[in-house]
Amino acid sequence: MTAGELRRKYIQFFERRGHAVLKSAPLVPENDPTVLFTTAGMHPLVPYLLGEPHPLGKRLVDCQKCVRTGDIDEVGDAVHLTFFEMLGNWSLGDYFKEEAIAFSFEFLTSSEWLGLDLDRLAVSVFSGDEDAPFDEEAFAAWCSHGVPESRIAKLGKKHNWWGPAGKTGPCGPDTEMFYWTGDVPAPDFFDPDDSRWVEIWNDVFMQYNKTSEGRFEPLNQCNVDTGMGLERVTAILQNKASCYDTELFRPIFDALDRARGVASTSERTSAERVVADHMRAAVFIMADGVVPGNVDRPYVVRRLLRRTVLKGRSLGVEGAFLASMAESVVEACRDVYPELGENADTIYEEVEREEAQFAKTLERGVREFERIIASVPEHVGGKVVSGRSAFKLFDTYGLPLELTMELAAGKGFSVDVAGFEKAFKKHQEKSRAGASGRFKGGLADDSEKTSALHTATHLLHEALRRVLGPHVAQKGSNITAERLRFDFSHPEKMTPEEIQCVEEMVNSVIAQDIEVVCEDMTKEEALESGAIGLFVDKYGDRVKVYSIGDFSREICGGPHIARLGGLGRFKIKKEESVGRGVRRVKAVLE
Ligand code: ALA
Repeated sequence: MTAGELRRKYIQFFERRGHAVLKSAPLVPENDPTVLFTTAGMHPLVPYLLGEPHPLGKRLVDCQKCVRTGDIDEVGDAVHLTFFEMLGNWSLGDYFKEEAIAFSFEFLTSSEWLGLDLDRLAVSVFSGDEDAPFDEEAFAAWCSHGVPESRIAKLGKKHNWWGPAGKTGPCGPDTEMFYWTGDVPAPDFFDPDDSRWVEIWNDVFMQYNKTSEGRFEPLNQCNVDTGMGLERVTAILQNKASCYDTELFRPIFDALDRARGVASTSERTSAERVVADHMRAAVFIMADGVVPGNVDRPYVVRRLLRRTVLKGRSLGVEGAFLASMAESVVEACRDVYPELGENADTIYEEVEREEAQFAKTLERGVREFERIIASVPEHVGGKVVSGRSAFKLFDTYGLPLELTMELAAGKGFSVDVAGFEKAFKKHQEKSRAGASGRFKGGLADDSEKTSALHTATHLLHEALRRVLGPHVAQKGSNITAERLRFDFSHPEKMTPEEIQCVEEMVNSVIAQDIEVVCEDMTKEEALESGAIGLFVDKYGDRVKVYSIGDFSREICGGPHIARLGGLGRFKIKKEESVGRGVRRVKAVLE
C-alpha cells in the first residue's frame, strides 16, 4: 500500500463513521505563543478540545502536517523525521474509549482496511498513579477484541499519558499500538523496550485539564485525540525497515543522486537521509509563508537549509543544488498539498539566495580558520585548535565542528573537541534560558488579558491595512497575556509617522467602546461580507466571523472580549523585520 492509499483509506474509514474531514492546518500555528510549529494533529484543535463547539461537529478526521524540531540531531537514523504527516481522528465529547479502540482495532486488522496480522500487534495502557487510576476501560476494550493480556503492557505516565509539553491544558491517559517488525515470530509477551516493536498509533483519552497549580481536574467534555505516523505505517505496510525506503522519499533521493552525479542505491546513508528530511521540512515550512532568517521560525528554516548544504558537500555535491532538491519535494507533494505548488517560485528563489549567502559565510569561516591556525604557537604537544576558537568558528562563522576538524586535519592540526563541547554547552544553557516560555509547547492561555490582546490584534490588522495598504496580510500571530506579536507582509520599515497613525487609529476605535459580535456563517458568506482572515480554508464550510462595528470583520476562532471599552491604551513597542517582505509588530495594552 502506498502512502497516498493509506492517507485516503484512513480518511475514508472515519468519514464513513460520521467524521467530518478537515484540511491540514498550516505548520505555523495561529495565536499560539507557546510553540514554533504545529507538532500534532490536536494542536490546531485545542479550543475545541477545551469545549468550544467545532463548526463541523463532534467527529473529525484529518491528515495534519507536523514539524518537530526537538530531535533534529537524531535525524539520519531509520525513524526520526523533522517533518511528518499525522493521521488523526477526534471525538469532541462524543464517543470515548470503547468506540475509539474499536475503530482503531478494526482499521488496523480488518482485511478491508490495513489487514495487519493480530499476531504482530501489541498495545500499552496507563497503569495508574496518584493523579489518575489504572485505565481499566481501555484494558477491557482491548481484551474484548481478542488481544491477549500478555500483549497488553501497563505503563506509567512517562509512556502512557499525553498532554501538551507545557504546564497546563487538556491531557489524559493514552493507549499505544505497536507492530512487531522483527524477522522472527513476535514473542507472546510484549516487551515495550524491544525496539522491534514499533509504535504506530496513539489514542489519547483527554479526561483532565492540568491546572497551573499542577492539579488534574476532570474536563467538562471527554475527548479522543489520536495520532498515527503516516510515514512509519507506510514503511510497515511495505515491509520496509525505514520510512526513508518508501516512495515518499524516492524522488528526493533521485534528485540528490543527480546532484552528486552518482547512480541510485537502495541503502541510504545517514547524511543522505538528513538531506531528504531537511529539504522536506524546509519546503513545507516555507510553503506556509516562512523565509530563512535569524530568529524563531525563519532561523529553523535557515538551519535546515544550511545543514543540507553541509551534508551535500560531505556527499560530494559541487555547486548549488538546493533549488533542484526543493523542486523534487514540491513535485512529489503538490497534489496533496497545493500550497507547495502555489509558492514554488518563491521557495526556489529563497533557497537559492540562502545557499549563495551561506557559501559566502563559509568562505569567511575558512579564512578565519586560516587566521586562527596561523596564530597558534607551535609548541611541544602538537598543533591544536582550541575549543574556544572552534566554537567561535561554529557560532560566528557557521562552520560546524566536523568541517573545522576536517580543515584542521588537512593542515596537520587537531581540535580540542572537549573544549568545544564545553563552550557549546555553556551557550546552549544561555539560549535555553532565553527561549523558555517559547519552546515549552502547550496551550495559549485564554485569560481575559489574552482575549483583550486577540481583539486588539484584529484592530491592529485592520489599521495596518488602512494605513499601509491592502497588501498587508497576516503572516503570523503570537499572543501572551502580556503582549501581542503580529507578523505581516509589507516591503519596508514602517516610519514613525505610520506607527503613530496606526496607534491613534486603534485607540480611537477602542474609545468608541464598540461591541464585538461573533457570527457563524459559511465560508462563502464570510468572504462575501468582506471578512479578512488568513485561515479561510481551515475548517471547511462553516466559520466564525468577529466584527467590530464596521471597522473590522475577520474570520477567527477567538477568544475575544465582549466590548472594546475594557481594552486600555494600545501601544506599539517594537517594529522590526523578520525576513524579506515580512514585518513584525510587538504591542501592548497599557
Ligand atoms: N496527540 C497525540 C500524539 O501526538 C495523538 O501522539
